[in-house]
Amino acid sequence: MLSEQEQKAERKLLRRGRLTDRERDRLAAGREDKLHEPTLPPGADRWSTWGDGELGPEPRPDWLVISDGAVDSRLGVVKTGKEADVHLVERWVPSEDSYGFGEDADTDQDQDVNAAPSASALASCLLAEKIYRGNDHRNFHRDAGYLDGRRTRESRLDRAVSNRTRFGLKVIAEQWAVAEFAALGTLWAAGAPVPYPVQRVGTELLIEFIGDPDGAAAPRLAALRPDLDELADLWGQLRAGLGYVARAGFTHGDLSAYNILVHHGRLVLIDLPQIVDLAANPHSGEYLSRDIANVTSWFAARGLPDADRRGAELLDDLRYEARLS
Ligand SMILES: Nc1ncnc2c1ncn2[C@@H]1O[C@H](COP(=O)(O)OP(=O)(O)OP(=O)(O)O)[C@@H](O)[C@H]1O
Ligand SMILES: [Mg+2]
Repeated sequence: MLSEQEQKAERKLLRRGRLTDRERDRLAAGREDKLHEPTLPPGADRWSTWGDGELGPEPRPDWLVISDGAVDSRLGVVKTGKEADVHLVERWVPSEDSYGFGEDADTDQDQDVNAAPSASALASCLLAEKIYRGNDHRNFHRDAGYLDGRRTRESRLDRAVSNRTRFGLKVIAEQWAVAEFAALGTLWAAGAPVPYPVQRVGTELLIEFIGDPDGAAAPRLAALRPDLDELADLWGQLRAGLGYVARAGFTHGDLSAYNILVHHGRLVLIDLPQIVDLAANPHSGEYLSRDIANVTSWFAARGLPDADRRGAELLDDLRYEARLS
């Protein structure tokens, strides 16, 4: 600890642009740290955030890269939305070749210079990164219903939320991220067809990417024109999937042909922050009927025979599964 006099002298030297010994040591130590900080391989945007924030349920799927030495590359935007943006991220473990000093790196004439940075990765997986917006540009049609009656443990936060200050908007965005991460974890563990939730850091969710290895995302149900056999098969998958959700005690809460992806014929439910707890929510019956009505009308419009009767049956079954009287 420097005496007050010494601090004063030091400040004077600094003002004159002359470094004190202490300051010089500090800068040198900083440079030293920089030297030892491992360099990111070309094409990587950050060290993997694996281990930060909340992590998804175990057992973890075996395709997931969990190495501390992994890096993340943002490959592009999947979709920008009103409430959140979804990016495609590749998480990969660099090899020596990834830095360009592997054994054959110089001699391999055939090396594809345009290959993805992760072409020589030891392991890799694709993730969808959903970042909730915490600013004025975002328009959460779900805020009102969802936030009613919800309180944080601090009145300071409650005030910021109800006044929609900049800080309040950030708090709301994080609440949505927390809610969706929890919903995905619960439903995934219950066996429902939802993306595996990898981790949550603040307003950012990393979840299983539903799509092809080349980065093409699966289309939404709304974009499909299935033939009758495919249509019947998708209805069957929807029934089974919603059965898992109802037995876990929930309904989606914003179910529509836009919040369902179909990857090579396999149906996956997405966009779940507003999931409704059927036992606790006083309006749960209405949410459940609305969810079923939304998807049934899509199937009816695409020509599923007896769609209305099937929809009514499905609703009855789900009410029974969820023990709603
Ligand atoms: N895990 C995923 N894998 C592939 N694509 C995804 C994934 N999650 C989301 N998407 C794509 O991003 C879009 C937006 O995601 P989501 O519906 O979760 O967010 P949102 O902010 O509610 O968007 P919107 O307002 O359009 O409903 C989806 O319609 C889908 O096309
Ligand atoms: Mg959506």
